[in-house]
Amino acid sequence: MNFDLTEEQLAVKEAARDFAQNVLKPEVIKRDNEQRFPVEEIKQLAELGFMGMMVDPKYGGSGMDTLSYVLAMEEISKVDASTSVCMSVNNSLVCWGIEKFGSEEQKLKYLVPLAKGEKIGAFCLSEPEAGSDATSQQTTAIDKGDYYLLNGTKNWITNGSSASVYLVVAQTNVAAGHKGINVFIIERGMEGFIVGAKEDKLGIRGSDTHTLLFNDVKVPKENRIGEDGFGFKFAMKVLSGGRIGIAAQALGIAAGALELSTAYSKERKAFGKEIYKHQAIAFKLADMATEVEAARLLVYKSAIDKDQGRNYDQSSAMAKLYASKVAMEQSVEAVQIHGGYGFVKEYHVERLMRDAKITQIYEGTSEIQKIVISRGILNS
Ligand code: CAA
Repeated sequence: MNFDLTEEQLAVKEAARDFAQNVLKPEVIKRDNEQRFPVEEIKQLAELGFMGMMVDPKYGGSGMDTLSYVLAMEEISKVDASTSVCMSVNNSLVCWGIEKFGSEEQKLKYLVPLAKGEKIGAFCLSEPEAGSDATSQQTTAIDKGDYYLLNGTKNWITNGSSASVYLVVAQTNVAAGHKGINVFIIERGMEGFIVGAKEDKLGIRGSDTHTLLFNDVKVPKENRIGEDGFGFKFAMKVLSGGRIGIAAQALGIAAGALELSTAYSKERKAFGKEIYKHQAIAFKLADMATEVEAARLLVYKSAIDKDQGRNYDQSSAMAKLYASKVAMEQSVEAVQIHGGYGFVKEYHVERLMRDAKITQIYEGTSEIQKIVISRGILNS
């Protein structure tokens, strides 16, 4: 087994770290306070080629492997998980889904601007009554001959108001259950499509999460992705890859908490010496580092499974389950190590703790990951 990164992967990691520390960090607390989407920062991410990292260059992407994407997500998430979730949804869910399953026309029309970061994408599965139970879609798309008529409501949509291309999951044949589900490409500005209320969230406050409403939206037939009835499998396949991105985000939050705690413990003195010289703190750092490294191995393994063409449904669920747990637990530890300073915004760790929680919820709760993992074990 070879654990070395290639020169190209190391360069991606370095570029992402530089961007996170020098471009994202200075204003990250302000954006979090103001719930402000990182408009300019996302443009710069696009210039780095990070909005379509795994997309073939012939469609405007950077043609990198999944591990490079994970390395970039990790570095960016150490500083700003609001920016990294926008990046993750665009890369893993929207670009990957269209490149893998879209028609050539869909790729030229939608994938190219998404991969270049000229447009931002959103993935619209969750509904008021269908979060984890993804087969119970209430949004309908009725075949009217020349077009589909789309009606329904989507909830908690990342990039809700900043996106201009939306992949919307809808039921086209209720009687057929999950085989009667399709995914459609919806453009901002289509008549009857309304961006609804913005959520006021605990964490990732710089990202924009919205309710979306579809009232008699006429969707051209050519905007359906794949064969009729392919929508549920499309969503499941896209989410497997998406979980690698969110696992990398969780890993970044945990690794960021460790970096900040290590640096702080060398600066802060108590009882006459730097606090890392107290075993109570040194042991906490040792536990944090071990947990972060274990999460890192699971996340990188899952990315390598995808790059090497192996099935990654289980490994991505394991990576997300474990890394999100580590992010939550170790960001709490980071606040504890910082003491009173950890409880105020200036020291960043309270934000990491708030941001960590969503990694245990979106792209499937921890309980959903356990369903995927246990089914994988039992079916093998
Ligand atoms: N790849 C391909 N096909 C798959 C698949 C996969 N990974 N997983 C399931 N399928 C197929 C099954 O083979 C089955 O097909 P057949 O009937 O032809 O055999 C079909 O899909 C139905 O599968 P299940 O019976 O397993 O489906 P289920 O209803 O029991 O649910 C689930 C499975 C894992 C619970 C699923 O519903 C799920 O993942 N739910 C969570 C949804 C989720 O992650 N939501 C997050 C929203 S997106 C988001 O958060 C983005 C963001 O903003 C950051």
